Amino acid sequence: MEVVPLESDTEVATLAADTIEAAVRTRPDAVLGLATGSTPLLTYRELIRRHHAGTGPSYARVWCFTLDEYVGLPPGHPGSYRATIARELTDPLGIPAERVRGPDPTEAHLASAGERYEAELKAAGGVEVQLLGIGSDGHLAFNEPGSSLGSLTRIKTLAEQTRQDNARFFGSSDEVPRHVLTQGLGTILRARHLLLLATGPGKAHALAAAVEGPLSATCPASVLQLHPHATVLVDPAAAQGL
Ligand code: GLP
Repeated sequence: MEVVPLESDTEVATLAADTIEAAVRTRPDAVLGLATGSTPLLTYRELIRRHHAGTGPSYARVWCFTLDEYVGLPPGHPGSYRATIARELTDPLGIPAERVRGPDPTEAHLASAGERYEAELKAAGGVEVQLLGIGSDGHLAFNEPGSSLGSLTRIKTLAEQTRQDNARFFGSSDEVPRHVLTQGLGTILRARHLLLLATGPGKAHALAAAVEGPLSATCPASVLQLHPHATVLVDPAAAQGL
């Protein structure tokens, strides 16, 4: 694992945007793995800024696969990850909606929705660069502490801490769904390059456990230690525990 300490969250976003653009320039039909949460937003804004400035690559042929989705939200709910990724990145980049895939919580057979998503990911040729954030409890996507290190896309129940952390995207923590569909840790490990972004003091503890602690389901993000090409971009506040 390569840990890259940077001067600010802006530098994290710049380097993350450089990495994503390089992947698309190398492979115009690259499969990009996208994350939600606040952390990647600066990166997304930087990609959009470059796109509008005419300096970015063409995104016409890329495929995007998101990590996770809430179960039980009405279609089009602004807090859903499908709506979030469209609003924050793929619509502004002009990526057609049919090229943006995510675990589908509206499927009639929810229990097998994970299997179908895995098949779709495989058919697309696998993820080139997977952008990741880290939860304050060390979760990756919605793989909460205790998740199997080899897990695949499936339904999970959110930890109370995560529902509280994500309450800001809803009216209150009571409105945050309890269940989600999420790529497993085993799914995430199949991406060819993992790019974890960690910014702000709230991530310092979880990041230290992920990078320097033992490989353990107690800190799901520690699975990055198993990956042959994992990069961690970190600002000074998040690096405090390293
Ligand atoms: C959510 C997402 C994760 C994300 C995490 C951290 O729980 N499912 O993929 O990494 O939030 O979010 P933030 O970047 O807002 O701290």
